[in-house]
Amino acid sequence: MRLAILEDAGFLAAARNDNAYRAAGLRGMSSLLDGVAMGAWLSSGRLWVIEDQKVFGMPVGFVRQDQMDSPGGDVTVFVLPHHQNRGYGTGALKIFREEHPRARALIRKDNAKSQKVFEHAGFQFYKDQGDGVVVYLGSPLPWPWIP
Ligand SMILES: CC(C)(COP(=O)(O)OP(=O)(O)OC[C@H]1O[C@@H](n2cnc3c(N)ncnc32)[C@H](O)[C@@H]1OP(=O)(O)O)[C@@H](O)C(=O)NCCC(=O)NCCS
Repeated sequence: MRLAILEDAGFLAAARNDNAYRAAGLRGMSSLLDGVAMGAWLSSGRLWVIEDQKVFGMPVGFVRQDQMDSPGGDVTVFVLPHHQNRGYGTGALKIFREEHPRARALIRKDNAKSQKVFEHAGFQFYKDQGDGVVVYLGSPLPWPWIP
């Protein structure tokens, strides 16, 4: 996994608008982005590209961190459908969590696979928000912040 650079914008934009990513999105985050909105999405968070080192570093997904006003930010992850179930998601989140142990993940309650992958990467279930969203934390409380 590596930090995204300008040349990754095409890949990231296509991945962000992929049906599989939008299907996992929380309310208001699942829409198809047009060019202007995509520019805002690309520039408003930190992005890493997940690469397949066996195939010349081919991009297979991304990790995104936003909401930087919370201690470790909110993290989301996406692996292209035909590269899923090969450990990319778990591996990327393990690296991310080591560097951002206070990160938080807001995951749809019906997204059992994503919850499992975050748990595999060391995130811990924190609470059920009661609105179809569950919260996972990269490290246990307490610290002086109520997510
Ligand atoms: C969630 C996601 C990132 C996982 O990436 P991945 O590279 O496929 O994940 P991994 O290969 O590391 O691990 C997959 C695990 O999920 C399990 N799994 C597969 N389908 C599942 C399902 N329907 N329910 C529960 N677990 C499932 C696999 O068995 C595997 O677990 P195991 O290692 O114990 O066998 C990927 O599926 C994705 O991009 N989904 C769409 C976007 C999304 O949901 N993002 C998360 C929002 S925060």
